[in-house]
Amino acid sequence: MTERQLFLGGYVPFPSGHYAGAWRHPYSTRDWLGRDFLHQTARTLEAAKFDLAFIPETVSHNPDFTRHGHSNSIKHDPAQVAGQIAAVTTHLGVGVTLSTSFNEPYNLARTLLSLDHLSGGRVAWNVIQSHGPGNYLNFPHVEELSGAELYDRGDEYVEAVLALWRAWEADALVQDQESGLFADPARITVPDYRGKYLAVRGPLNLPPSPQTHPVIIQAGDSQRGRTFGARWGDVIFAIERTRADMQAKKDDLKGKARAAGRDADRIRLFAAVQPIIGETKEIALARRDFLRTRITPESGVRFFSHFARVDLAGVDLDARYVDVIEERATDGQTESRAIVQLDELLGARRDRVTIAEAGVEFSTSELTPQVVGTGEEIAEELAAYFTSGAADGFLITPTHFPGVVRGVRPRRRAAPAAPRGVPHRVHGHHTAREPGAGMTTRTDTDLELTSRWGGRLAATFTPGTGDSAVLLLHGFLSDRRAGGRFDRLADEYSALGHAVLRIDLSGFGSSEGDVVDADRLLDDAHTALDHLDALGLTRQILHGQSLGSAIALRVAPLRPRVATLVLTGALTGAGNGDAPYPFLDDEQLAAWYRDEDVRLRVDGSLTRTHVVVNRQRPKLGATGTQEELLGAVGVPVLVIHGDTGDQEEALAAVTAAGEHLLPAGSRVVVIPGATHTFYESQDAVAALVTDWVSEHVPAAAPGSA
Ligand SMILES: Cc1cc2nc3c(=O)[nH]c(=O)nc-3n(C[C@H](O)[C@H](O)[C@H](O)COP(=O)(O)O)c2cc1C
Repeated sequence: MTERQLFLGGYVPFPSGHYAGAWRHPYSTRDWLGRDFLHQTARTLEAAKFDLAFIPETVSHNPDFTRHGHSNSIKHDPAQVAGQIAAVTTHLGVGVTLSTSFNEPYNLARTLLSLDHLSGGRVAWNVIQSHGPGNYLNFPHVEELSGAELYDRGDEYVEAVLALWRAWEADALVQDQESGLFADPARITVPDYRGKYLAVRGPLNLPPSPQTHPVIIQAGDSQRGRTFGARWGDVIFAIERTRADMQAKKDDLKGKARAAGRDADRIRLFAAVQPIIGETKEIALARRDFLRTRITPESGVRFFSHFARVDLAGVDLDARYVDVIEERATDGQTESRAIVQLDELLGARRDRVTIAEAGVEFSTSELTPQVVGTGEEIAEELAAYFTSGAADGFLITPTHFPGVVRGVRPRRRAAPAAPRGVPHRVHGHHTAREPGAGMTTRTDTDLELTSRWGGRLAATFTPGTGDSAVLLLHGFLSDRRAGGRFDRLADEYSALGHAVLRIDLSGFGSSEGDVVDADRLLDDAHTALDHLDALGLTRQILHGQSLGSAIALRVAPLRPRVATLVLTGALTGAGNGDAPYPFLDDEQLAAWYRDEDVRLRVDGSLTRTHVVVNRQRPKLGATGTQEELLGAVGVPVLVIHGDTGDQEEALAAVTAAGEHLLPAGSRVVVIPGATHTFYESQDAVAALVTDWVSEHVPAAAPGSA
């Protein structure tokens, strides 16, 4: 039931990221120090549906970098930055870089777990091992390590941090007011971690966060660094010049992950890319040329010199690059990544360019691949990259902030169709927000509702033009974006004038609830419909996918304002009693029958790593006949099935057997080639939904609400 989903991360530049001229761009902000810059960045990324804001880190001062305004010339404490970003967002993951070299495991584990709690479980830790004398000078008591030993210590460090994060069992915080037991000491272990390099006793004074503990990011590139990343990383960042190089890195990482006994498919590889967007390809190319002019020759040479580790002080800027390298670089240095890859990038020009030109070339993106074109061209290119399997997502490194949207009025246009096999939001919400590529016309507001059972529900509301609204109910292991499918549907419903409300069902996404519980799911749907009632949106559509369809069928008979149901991958059958969820493996099944919590991994979200089920909790559709279920619904239902995959075939057969029980005017449609998730059939679903809803709930004219 889980699907491969494309992730997007955005680099938070300070005051430049991989493009050394960022702060000199005419649109660039000058406010690097106040919180407005961070809030604006955070809101921009969240509105564009990014999964992650990435905050880099360094703890050394480089006079050249400071002189020229390169990356790290200004550097706030990353944890403080993370707190600011988390405070003004509700979905965005917050990736914060902290070094294992200079922080005690206790302090780092606590800082990150606190952030994870305070953000509702949205934090990721980019694990770095700092090296080089520049860093160590600020920490004279720390023994300087290098190479493999740095990572050996890193292994211990992560072990210690994880031990601290896992010291409290999930249910250790009891808060039983009757008995007076606040937290149960028997459910809190003392890690007492002792390694070769470090020791920490613990535990922290903190229970697990909503996602248990932060997600781990790693970006090692050396063989030892990759082994480290493959052992610990949930997400790996990589800068590779070509797709083939990225694929090779992914294969290597997967091999190393398997060798470490991990499920290699769980690791997500983010390829760093630098998009340069124009209204036309020509404008984009001209923009790229313009960006180069913002890097002075001196600045470019300094930046390059640092990464190539070649002393270029006093070099003649007009000297040929090849001559300078021959004269100044040792053999070891010419084999450095910076020089080898710059040589590749320069190609035939290598022998002709001056050291200044080479430095500027390097400094436009620090060898991060540039993608130059219109928004649509860039989206196509990234989609092809993703579909090839070489990367699971992208870390977008912007050239400058706030970016080219400033001063340009976006065109209003329906979002283009998604390339086949790629979640729509890749195309419809990210690059499409740039000028020239169209722009979604929706304005979403995130809100919190309190469900009837008392828990907090995360929701997104999109206003409509009249008195009609749709409630979107997602499937199992999913959330209110449904991996982009509900973004697409929100576009469709919104374009018809309907308001759109989507909720993370309790136990899923960012909503509260530790364990999936049918009674609560029904409460959630009622709460959402109550909210629509309160807004005066009295002509309601219930749209459910899979689990959401089962909820819709049970709630509809009690809601007189629901005018129609749209169900995809629908569960229309009779109750199946105590049967376990169909996708549990043997170990999970055994735990299920022992009445223990069964944790099911969620792959499509950075806000929740697991959904928990337990046999003791009420299960949706445990009892009742198909006749009772379908006979209770009094409004026409559109049931959409696919014909591909065992699961969907079986569900379609159940609906076919009970089709005669559906209310008058209902319709059952099978989309050829569609699987249970409908990822690849979103256009077909959208077309059916549009026709059905236009007929059954025509949107009122604007202002009639
Ligand atoms: C996208 C990306 C972001 C990175 N961010 C940081 C950072 O913020 N701070 C840092 O010291 N190193 C950062 N690194 C460097 C890596 O942690 C790592 O040291 C580098 O890729 C070299 O790998 P190695 O240590 O195995 O030689 C980053 C690397 C990549 C690819």
